Amino acid sequence: MRTPYYQYDLGILQATLKSIEECVGGNPDWHVHYAIKANANPLLLKHINEYGLGIDCVSGGEIQTALDNGFPASSIVFAGVGKADWEIDLALNAGIACFNVESEAELDVIAERCAALGKTARIALRVNPDVDAHTHKNITTGKAENKFGIEIPMLLPIIRKAQQNPSFVFEGLHFHIGSQILDMEPFHMLCQKANDLQDMLEKEGIKLNSINVGGGLGVDYVNPEQNPVPNFREYFDIFRNELKLRPGQQLHFELGRAVVAQCGRLVTKVLYVKQGTIKKFAIVDAGFTELIRPALYGAHHKIVNLTSNGPLQKYDVVGPICESSDIFGKDEMLPEVHRGDLIALMSAGAYGEAMSSQYNCRPLPPTEAGKF
Ligand code: LLP
Repeated sequence: MRTPYYQYDLGILQATLKSIEECVGGNPDWHVHYAIKANANPLLLKHINEYGLGIDCVSGGEIQTALDNGFPASSIVFAGVGKADWEIDLALNAGIACFNVESEAELDVIAERCAALGKTARIALRVNPDVDAHTHKNITTGKAENKFGIEIPMLLPIIRKAQQNPSFVFEGLHFHIGSQILDMEPFHMLCQKANDLQDMLEKEGIKLNSINVGGGLGVDYVNPEQNPVPNFREYFDIFRNELKLRPGQQLHFELGRAVVAQCGRLVTKVLYVKQGTIKKFAIVDAGFTELIRPALYGAHHKIVNLTSNGPLQKYDVVGPICESSDIFGKDEMLPEVHRGDLIALMSAGAYGEAMSSQYNCRPLPPTEAGKF
């Protein structure tokens, strides 16, 4: 296999999906939509589909990919602050489950497109609950300063507008507060906010068919081998115990990272070992073109030397891209590295392959199924 490449351990994916099923299966009112933005590789989608998850999309391309991979339109929800007209049309024509609408302006455009196409749309409004997810600033979404969703003080007239339009079926509310959330406190806060909001809306005579609490559950990037499957039980129990669903009300989740992060790793080959005056560099053939999370968020993926078990030495592991941010790890202790060694960047199944680019005219990485 040409390096660098993505390797997916489908056994880990299946164990993850099984764990989700054990927590959620058997409850017909709970629906998990996989956030396909995390990874749209058909190898993974096949298993995710087999376990009956729906799909959460943020673009027309994602909707098309979900349909092409056999997911029923009735399992697809569609969020995003900037839905283009063609994307709305695609979703209307496919007959997706729900638009998660992020502004009044968007609601007006969906109404126009419904009228033009003679379609109706199921609508949820995305609420910006002003909850701090305590995660990296680039992946927090539920604060008032973020561009996402409709702020609570502005919500009521927009709900009324949605209810009054015969093109719409008003479904309920949607939330998503951020990503890579490991401290469960923000999810408790989210339940509280959703309960308060539901009480407030009921007083106004507004009934919700469904509540969508988004995604965001984090994974263990430090010890992926010990924790290949996230603690879904703890996460789902928060909503089971704290969210006050009304009889018959549907609950939706949109998990991305937690489903696929640990089943993928990026395998790269060492091109050169370069000794500087103060540093020793292991220069590998993968760069931020294949895995941008370290450069973009300062994220760290565990680095493993798959070839050598020599004495530990200290390296900066860097890529070949002509940018100084192209670094996977500083002062990494690794078994002695040689040219030709294979190095794995672990926990790269989510937002790895999906965010890869062709900068420097580099080819996109190939992928294979394998066992870690
Ligand atoms: N629902 C909505 C509306 C979202 O925007 C997202 C992620 C999810 C669900 C899924 O969130 P998850 O369960 O994966 O945390 N590229 C970044 C993460 C960006 C997340 C964007 N939205 C990273 O690599 O950390």
